Amino acid sequence: METRKKIYNVISEFLDNPQIVKEVSSTPKRFEIVDMKELAPGIKRVVIRAPLIASKAKAGQFVILRVDEYGERFPLTIFDWNKSEGLITLIFQEVGVSTRKLGMLKAGDYVMDIVGPLGNPTEIKNYGTVAVIGGGVGTALTYTWVRALKAHGNYVVTILGARTESLLLLEDELRRLSDEVHISTDDGSKGFKGFTSELLKKLLEEGRRFDLVMAVGPVPMMRAVAEVTRPYGIKTIVSLNPIMVDGTGMCGACRVKVGGEIKFACVDGPEFDAHQIDFNQLMNRLRFYRDEEMKALKTKFND
Ligand code: FES
Repeated sequence: METRKKIYNVISEFLDNPQIVKEVSSTPKRFEIVDMKELAPGIKRVVIRAPLIASKAKAGQFVILRVDEYGERFPLTIFDWNKSEGLITLIFQEVGVSTRKLGMLKAGDYVMDIVGPLGNPTEIKNYGTVAVIGGGVGTALTYTWVRALKAHGNYVVTILGARTESLLLLEDELRRLSDEVHISTDDGSKGFKGFTSELLKKLLEEGRRFDLVMAVGPVPMMRAVAEVTRPYGIKTIVSLNPIMVDGTGMCGACRVKVGGEIKFACVDGPEFDAHQIDFNQLMNRLRFYRDEEMKALKTKFND
């Protein structure tokens, strides 16, 4: 633990150098929360004033955020941005100590620092017919994908999934943007009963053809989508959200094996060819700090 703390401190100093990163607070309490809203149980949307990030953000990119000086850094997809008002919007699920702390803030509060925009923007062009699949909080990214794909003239079929109807996110927004929206819930409370990957399989078996499939959500879901499209030879892109610390390719926390090579999701991704990803290794790495997270939740929130 001591060694890990030291590493975190070194990286913190690195990140606090304004010449290296694009936007990071030089004084505490720099990034004002303009709005905080609950979208579904445990899932919130936060609007933060971050003009430099808003001026440069592109679809597919993310930020790394730290709530306060004792907090860990964690990545969140940039859901939306407004250059003229200098605002960015993030959607997050309260799953650990840091996201819970973020969720307790309200308009007028501040977060300590935000680094970004990080990662490579999504490669958007006219592919033809694209299936965009979002599960859980990953739906935030599908919204930015669909918006950008439609701007390039694609026919977009959105597949939206959640455990149950009350956890479905952004359905109205995605219906407005997409050519078609298909819903799946694990418990069958709305739409197709089952997983998004099973719904995709059903559409393919019915004869639907896609030039590209893009998916974001829990790792098992992205792996299942990759296995559905593999026999059809459909190019499949997924966006990974592994553990990240610095977001600049230095710490190695986000490493993932793609096509037999080690890649860093923060600088080489976050989007990769799903058929090349070693999902087993990725899932093992995501389990790495689960015990510590559980202990931290118990200490902080008595869960
Ligand atoms: S987060 Fe450190 S290398 Fe990617």
